[in-house]
Amino acid sequence: MVTANRSRTCTKAWTCAATFRPCVPDYLNTLTQIRFVWKPVVFLACLVPFALAIGDLFGITGSLGANPVEELQDRFGNWGLRFVMITLAVTPLRHMTGKVWLLRFRRMLGLFAFFYILMHFLNWFVLDQGMLWSAIIEDLLERPFITLGFTALLLLTAMAATSTTGIRRRMGKRWHKLHYSVYAVGILGVWHYWWQVKADVAEPLIYAAVLSVLLGYRVWKKKSAKSRR
Ligand code: HEM
Repeated sequence: MVTANRSRTCTKAWTCAATFRPCVPDYLNTLTQIRFVWKPVVFLACLVPFALAIGDLFGITGSLGANPVEELQDRFGNWGLRFVMITLAVTPLRHMTGKVWLLRFRRMLGLFAFFYILMHFLNWFVLDQGMLWSAIIEDLLERPFITLGFTALLLLTAMAATSTTGIRRRMGKRWHKLHYSVYAVGILGVWHYWWQVKADVAEPLIYAAVLSVLLGYRVWKKKSAKSRR
């Protein structure tokens, strides 16, 4: 029989007498692995596009081409939108696989979406517009695709600022309402991209198709839950 004993080396951990392994239930093992192994791995993987962009900027990993400011703008914008899609894909994936632990990555992925969009904005604000307020305000008011992007950035900022567990608990139902804005961010992001391409809409079309699947899934799920009631 397996009994819980104090470890012989007098650590705080409880151990199984037979195997001398910490007696941790399976679900805790999974949570510990996620926290100490998978989360750091996913975190580092999410930083790769940023590291490559900085490496290319300094000519270490490659180059940003003839127009580095525009290239950075495009890369950060694309990664921001990809992370919005990846974050939106977590719930359907969880439903399909039954792996509840997938939800543990959602906050990190959402924060990476915010991080890349913030870089996209700062690149525009500092390097493209030279922090010239008059030009910035003119762009915001006169270029509708910038207005859309800015609205999405404001929503993402509100979500990022309220992403901690403490704030989530304090906000209660209002937290969920606010965080449903991620759907609006997806729509505004695709629209923003679509609006600024001149001829070839192939890439924004791919984002639009992926977003339609991700949002369509939620509508279908809600409808089928209602019809079962
Ligand atoms: C204040 C907020 C934002 C500003 C000022 C801004 C500005 C810009 C600018 C100037 C471009 C480049 C246009 C060109 O190459 O001619 C661009 C492209 C893009 N932006 Fe934004 N943007 C903002 C927010 C967003 C948000 C919230 C998203 C996504 C969620 C996003 C995704 C993209 C994408 C995917 C592109 C296209 C990149 C490509 O051409 O490959 N942007 N944005």
